[in-house]
Amino acid sequence: MIETNMSSIDTKDPFAARTRAVLSELEAGGQLKKFQTIEGPMGAKVRLRDHGEVVCLCSNNYLGLANHPDVVESGIEGLRRYGAGTASVRFICGTFDCHEKIERRIADLHGVEASYTFSSCWNANEAIFATLCEPGDIIISDELNHASIIDGIRLASVIKKGVHKKVFRHSDLDSLRERLEAARANPEVTGQAWVVTDGVFSMEGDIGDLPGLRSVCDEFGAKLVVDDSHGTGVMGPTGRGTHEHWGMDGKSIDLFTSTLGKALGGGAGGYMAGSKEMIDLMIQRGRPTLFSNALPATVACSADKAIEILMNEPDRVAKLRDNVAYARDGIRAVGFEVLESPTAILPIIVHDTAKAIAMSKRLLELGVFVIGFGYPVVPEGEARLRCQISAAHERTHLDEFLEQLKVLKAEF
Ligand SMILES: Cc1ncc(COP(=O)(O)O)c(C=O)c1O
Repeated sequence: MIETNMSSIDTKDPFAARTRAVLSELEAGGQLKKFQTIEGPMGAKVRLRDHGEVVCLCSNNYLGLANHPDVVESGIEGLRRYGAGTASVRFICGTFDCHEKIERRIADLHGVEASYTFSSCWNANEAIFATLCEPGDIIISDELNHASIIDGIRLASVIKKGVHKKVFRHSDLDSLRERLEAARANPEVTGQAWVVTDGVFSMEGDIGDLPGLRSVCDEFGAKLVVDDSHGTGVMGPTGRGTHEHWGMDGKSIDLFTSTLGKALGGGAGGYMAGSKEMIDLMIQRGRPTLFSNALPATVACSADKAIEILMNEPDRVAKLRDNVAYARDGIRAVGFEVLESPTAILPIIVHDTAKAIAMSKRLLELGVFVIGFGYPVVPEGEARLRCQISAAHERTHLDEFLEQLKVLKAEF
């Protein structure tokens, strides 16, 4: 790192001074994020720089596929076959046959007509409304939706004047109905209503009431969009997602978005899946599809293999479910409060932010990697340790975690 004379920068560069002030404030408030560097592959245990081998309970590697030999080999094979990429956007000369293959596989996984991949789910969420909405449309969003959905809606309302936006109370169908009734009475809302929800909410670990949302949407002719980034590969008997958990057909959701960066290999990438018409419009008009390169071929190939494994090995999903039940019972037996849900996200509520952070630090000393989240990421007074369970965990890993939780309980 190059040492500089900070005081001379302050006067010459107000931006540097302002930036340093923000960083100092974050540090003083205990909110400065510091990376933990992992010196090997993701798995039930990881090797952390300065900490050695620790049990990992903070990755979204829900199915344990991030370092699966076939997933790794497919990525290597993709790199050999296609090289690094085509150095072009998709519609010019940037589409490989591996893109067509994974998009067919994703559509089949969700039981819908078509899908389209992006370099991240963030990108997909940014594209949806700005592309599919027109002035006079309204987008109504659950208040706890992921940041990428929120930003995607903001973008749509800025670049297409006359696209309306509203928020409904978390998982509250009455609140949604009120918003839709108000929209119906609003002469400026002349177009399509869109309702958007996470399938699994990442901080609470709870799930969207998709059957309830579907029926309210149907009353008003609204389209239902579900971001199932934490549900794909996890929820439902065969891991197809939160709609499968509810016993719903893929076609009963108008549009899915999800990530390839969690259960489905964990590399990177995202997608949307739905009707052929919506996907065709996205290909023609989506700014991230027209002006940004494709998913790297190596990721397309490794994620394609991950989905193939998911489809062929439903036992992985069953093992994940068993692990979740075992960990939840164990956490309760130790005496901690854990939120109830059918997902692989187990938030242990400890209320106080400083306490959550201190507890996660202590757990790391004890050989368990779990992140503490506090205000402003979660509401004041609801700080938590967010534990994420994987099919990669064996009982020994979960027992090690529960043993160290007992130590924590005695100390805090
Ligand atoms: C619900 C949800 N949507 C979208 C994303 C973004 O996914 P990606 O990492 O593929 O951009 C995340 C990642 O944290 C997420 O949790």
